[in-house]
Amino acid sequence: MGEILKIDNISVSYGNIRALSDVSMTVSEGDIVSLIGANGAGKSTLLKAIVGLEPLKAGHIEFAGETICQSKHHASLTTDLIAKRGIALVPEGRHVFADMTVEENLDMGAFMVRDSDLIARRKEDMYDLFPILGARKKQKTRSLSGGEQQMMAIARALMSAPRLLLLDEPGLGLAPLIVQDIFNKIKLINEENKVTVFLVEQNARLALRSSSYGYVLENGKIVLQDSGEALLNNERVQKAYLGA
Ligand SMILES: Nc1ncnc2c1ncn2[C@@H]1O[C@H](COP(=O)(O)OP(=O)(O)OP(=O)(O)O)[C@@H](O)[C@H]1O
Ligand SMILES: [Mg+2]
Repeated sequence: MGEILKIDNISVSYGNIRALSDVSMTVSEGDIVSLIGANGAGKSTLLKAIVGLEPLKAGHIEFAGETICQSKHHASLTTDLIAKRGIALVPEGRHVFADMTVEENLDMGAFMVRDSDLIARRKEDMYDLFPILGARKKQKTRSLSGGEQQMMAIARALMSAPRLLLLDEPGLGLAPLIVQDIFNKIKLINEENKVTVFLVEQNARLALRSSSYGYVLENGKIVLQDSGEALLNNERVQKAYLGA
């Protein structure tokens, strides 16, 4: 299958701070691809740029063969339109609506869908995928555990039936067993729902094991890229990210 996402030489700055410099990468349709890097490397900035939340200083981004973001910001799609094209982002820190129930949160994820039967079907699919959410659907989200909230954030993103799911540190702050559980679900979503996944994760070992391809970001620049397996065996990656 072809490239679903193509990032071509993008740069992003916050005032005088250069967060991304000449970043290029591609994600093939159907793959799980991971991006690893230390705190402050620019990982979240990259995901936000893909959905139009950070303007590009240079370069452009294509999704399914069409330009969605470019340095002439006025010519880029808005975040809503990018979502409509089929990209969903689960942001770092989850950003769930804590005072809403699980079900209401899922409804929010389907805000672009008009067909209420379709919304109901998708919710049932999410409860099949994450049974704990079905059991908690009438509960306020703030009463859920961190792991359950992360599952809900992923389910909410899937309510728009995206072709590309972007995940910003799905394992952040969660116990290792829960993180493993979430990664198992991510694999299932990729294999069964045919959703392409691009994820950022501090747990580099788990991320690379789950990925067919990976990129390493340091100080806003891609410094390495290879298959997940090759990166796991790469000395530089082992020293810097795998505690070897
Ligand atoms: N809104 C902002 N205003 C100014 N600087 C910012 C802003 N957001 C991020 N930065 C800076 O840009 C750089 C990249 O930040 P980013 O959040 O993309 O890193 P990250 O790789 O996601 O880090 P972490 O692993 O801690 O989440 C950092 O130096 C950060 O301080
Ligand atoms: Mg981040």
